[in-house]
Amino acid sequence: NASGPAAGLTITLTAGPTREPLDPVRYLTNHSSGKMGYALAASAARLGARVRLISGPVSLATPPGVERIDVETAEQMHAAALRLAVDSDAFIGCAAVADYRAAAPAEHKLKKRDDAESLTLELVKNPDIIAAVAALPAAQRPLVVGFAAETQDLEHYAQDKLTRKGLDMIVANDVSLAGQGFGADHNAALLLWRRPDATTPGRHQTATLTKTELADTILHHLLERL
Ligand code: C5P
Repeated sequence: NASGPAAGLTITLTAGPTREPLDPVRYLTNHSSGKMGYALAASAARLGARVRLISGPVSLATPPGVERIDVETAEQMHAAALRLAVDSDAFIGCAAVADYRAAAPAEHKLKKRDDAESLTLELVKNPDIIAAVAALPAAQRPLVVGFAAETQDLEHYAQDKLTRKGLDMIVANDVSLAGQGFGADHNAALLLWRRPDATTPGRHQTATLTKTELADTILHHLLERL
């Protein structure tokens, strides 16, 4: 769609969970389905953008016209994101990145021990991918859009994340509501964006939409700020 409203723009996204190995056969992960990130990638491609989708392990088809880069761990996603963000117009961090990974994944399968009723795993913090992209020097920095899945005080935590991570826009949704968020096909979101000349962020609350409709709404707001 070379004549779409996003023609000439390059948009890079992250989507899905990350998978952090404990040993060769086990890992830590989360319930992210990747649906929201894939819907955004599909919408961006429909609007004419060049789209690169950095994806954790999900069972979704690659949307038409989207270049997909498969990764497993947060560290792999971090490296791919920084490599691709520097020549992107916008970066959307939709992935549910594991906050921690095993400090030292075992080289061989961990054995069940008959002499111990408990096992302690040492975890270390993963890099914050979107904060790293937002901290790029101005000349290399794309417009940065993040997500915030919260179960309470949605607007407060979203505003805090917008500021603390240095994002341009944040899409916040309440994952405690039934039928929304993780794995669901519908979502309602609160969009907040930084305004250079104002002390408070811009704000838009969507209705409950399909993830495709929400993706279109997010991209509409994103294109307005590019
Ligand atoms: O802090 P929290 O995980 O709630 O922030 C969510 C936002 O930050 C999402 O946009 C998510 O993709 C991004 N994120 C990231 N790297 C991390 C953790 C979160 O890019 N390690």
